[in-house]
Amino acid sequence: MLLQPPTETIPIQEIPIGKNIKLFIKREDLIHPQISGNKYWKLFYNVNHYLETNPENPYIITFGGAFSNHISAVSAAGNVAGIPTLGIIRGEELQNKWRDNPTLLFAKRNGMNLKFVTREEYRHKEKLTEFLQQEFPDALIVPEGGTNEDAVEGIKMMLNEQTKDFDYLCTAVGTGGTIAGISKFCEDNQNVIGFKVVDDASLENKIFELTLKRNFNLIDSGFGGYGKINDENVRFINDFKDKYNIPLEPIYTGKMMQRIFEMIEEDYFPENSRVLCFHTGGLQGIEGANLLLEKQNRNLII
Ligand SMILES: Cc1ncc(COP(=O)(O)O)c(C=O)c1O
Repeated sequence: MLLQPPTETIPIQEIPIGKNIKLFIKREDLIHPQISGNKYWKLFYNVNHYLETNPENPYIITFGGAFSNHISAVSAAGNVAGIPTLGIIRGEELQNKWRDNPTLLFAKRNGMNLKFVTREEYRHKEKLTEFLQQEFPDALIVPEGGTNEDAVEGIKMMLNEQTKDFDYLCTAVGTGGTIAGISKFCEDNQNVIGFKVVDDASLENKIFELTLKRNFNLIDSGFGGYGKINDENVRFINDFKDKYNIPLEPIYTGKMMQRIFEMIEEDYFPENSRVLCFHTGGLQGIEGANLLLEKQNRNLII
């Protein structure tokens, strides 16, 4: 079955900050209970174009780490579309421990086959991809994080008449597909800001190759690199939920939002700017993050 666009409009909520800047959040996290946020859109055309080719032995193969939102989303999308899935997971030590990991358990429950590889093997994903394509010639192989041209095309669906009304469009950046789509399809007068959660010097060029526009700025969201959970940020996430009743997670959206609040304090945005950030989902990761925080005797995300 093809993935369907949502029947209801995705809400844009104001975050009242009591300044001369208007801050809003577009709740892409509400798009689907299991394939949330940007993942839905990055997979939308990947899955649908693939199904339209009528593959004889449909199979979706992809890559990710132990807590990957992308693995979680692909497993759920496979379930919805009726396509078996295979996840190539970084870390062979997880082979016998996947039941303790909420993301991997969820993927398994969606019927995803999991293959655990060493970090060294994972680093050479191109080789693995070649090998897998030979073994499963009909399979759709989606890159890590889901970023490719179909993904960029899908992100167009996050933009609409309402989003044209903002001066700044903000998103968290991992592999760059989401910001590339926003940059490619936004209006000429809009500024795009990406909050990097990965320290990758090649990211800017990768994004440019996908969007062919230079209307975006990348800002380091800080907090010690990919996957690192910061206690101050956990406090921010909990306060934010308390105040605005909007959940954030500690790998992407929580970091972006705290940095936006800092930038507002630093007068980065001119007075009367209208700033829209995209809630790109990933809330499934909170359970795994809390397991880790609990083990380390640190404050949890509530
Ligand atoms: C919650 C969340 N936000 C943002 C991103 C970044 O998206 P991209 O990899 O397209 O840069 C991801 C990764 O898909 C994510 O899971």
